[in-house]
Amino acid sequence: MALLNPSLLRLLICLIPIFYVWKCLSSPLRKCPGPWSSLFTSWILKWHEFHANRTRYVHHLHVLYGPVVRIAPNEVSFASLEGIKEIYCSGGSGYDKTEFYNLFQVYGRRTMFSTLNKADHAKRKRILADRYANTNIMRPVVLDGIKERSLRFIGRCSESVGGTVDLFICLHDYAFDCITHHLFHPYGSDSLLKQGDEEIMKEVTFDESLKNRLLQYYHPELHKLIGNILHYFAKPRQTPLADNLVLGASSRTEPAQFTLLSRMQEKNYNLEQLDMAAECLDHMAAGIDTTGDALCFLMWEISQPNMIHVQQRLQEELRDNPDVEFDRLPYLDAVVLEGLRCFPAIPMSLPRYVPNGGRTIDGFFVPGGTIVSCQAYSTQRIDQNVFPNPDTFNPDRWLEERGDLDRKRLFFAFASGGRGCVGKHLALAEMKTLLRDVYTRFKTVPDETMKPEMMQMSDQLISSQPREQKCLMRLVPLQN
Ligand SMILES: *[C@@H]1O[C@H](CO)[C@@H](O)[C@H](O)[C@H]1NC(C)=O
Repeated sequence: MALLNPSLLRLLICLIPIFYVWKCLSSPLRKCPGPWSSLFTSWILKWHEFHANRTRYVHHLHVLYGPVVRIAPNEVSFASLEGIKEIYCSGGSGYDKTEFYNLFQVYGRRTMFSTLNKADHAKRKRILADRYANTNIMRPVVLDGIKERSLRFIGRCSESVGGTVDLFICLHDYAFDCITHHLFHPYGSDSLLKQGDEEIMKEVTFDESLKNRLLQYYHPELHKLIGNILHYFAKPRQTPLADNLVLGASSRTEPAQFTLLSRMQEKNYNLEQLDMAAECLDHMAAGIDTTGDALCFLMWEISQPNMIHVQQRLQEELRDNPDVEFDRLPYLDAVVLEGLRCFPAIPMSLPRYVPNGGRTIDGFFVPGGTIVSCQAYSTQRIDQNVFPNPDTFNPDRWLEERGDLDRKRLFFAFASGGRGCVGKHLALAEMKTLLRDVYTRFKTVPDETMKPEMMQMSDQLISSQPREQKCLMRLVPLQN
């Protein structure tokens, strides 16, 4: 019973921290730039995560330490082209995803987004990508559906003239109606016109499960054990209304031919009903928050007094080119790109595992099993040769020929490589259609009750939204 010998026990207890320190100090990551504390502990990073501030904290470290920064003992963030190419594009779709994406399983199923490895992902993507391809998005039935919903949005704007409209709500409604149209028309939502459907959008958007889900990620066993009590302090994600919509719609037959559901229902894919519902719910949630929040931040920005010239130029371009397709308007395109650069809907790290054997990324050797990532917020700001005055909203930068390739390569709002955003073309069509409809008719002015702090970026699990979840705007009809 030598182990019970008190002095031996004391010695062992002393050795544990010494061993820990030795292990940290001998980690190859000691050579990465970063705060010394990140070599020993991830608590500072987690503290910021729990306070919806991860993106800004990581960016702050990039500003201090450069494009490669160690943010935790087992985690490195990159804000460089080398990083993007290696982590997300090597071998087509880059490194495998981490268990972080387990949080995005739906009904206990893995969706395309939450598959971890390359093979599972490729299999699912072969089925789904077709309906998001630009050739499908540009079909008149699809675009007409978007235009119709955009005009309903304009209806809400027109009713508000003389008062205010909450853009945060209406834009999420619009994104909701557009994505459900694309997923399972004619069984989609009509939240711009129907109060009941707007409630579904609110349930998905006003979700407060960040802390609960982070705990689930970091301590899955503990979470299982105390989930029932935890519930009182940190709400789990629950979306009964949305579940109801999706489970109902995805069991219907004969959805419109352009929809994702029609594709998944094709017999040869043998997808179970619950898998189809899971994909639909995942795409729905993703489609609401990303497009809704990106448009909200963008419209807020160009409504500021010092941005009047942006609105004016946009209005001129739209007025002078009424018959040109939305994807052929250079200034509109520049405004959207700049919006997504400054306020990417998913600004945060997209974590991946370094494969066995380790890899050298952007000049630093990183051992296998280390978590590595890039975040759009930083890749789109950190290099001031590519993005001069990175914190200034300036659409003109996208109209310059010089540096165009560099800008596009560091643009990471839709991520890159084989696992990049499948909904990119749909999102751009939705954004451009709506902006065109709004700014041919109105000037937008923030309501006096809105303060800039209210629109500060607040991280969710992976996307970000305005802190106060509110954006009151006055719409002033244009005279022409
Ligand atoms: C978020 O992080 C930034 C950068 O580290 C820091 O300046 C700011 O105070 C943090 N905000 C909150 C609410 O913790």
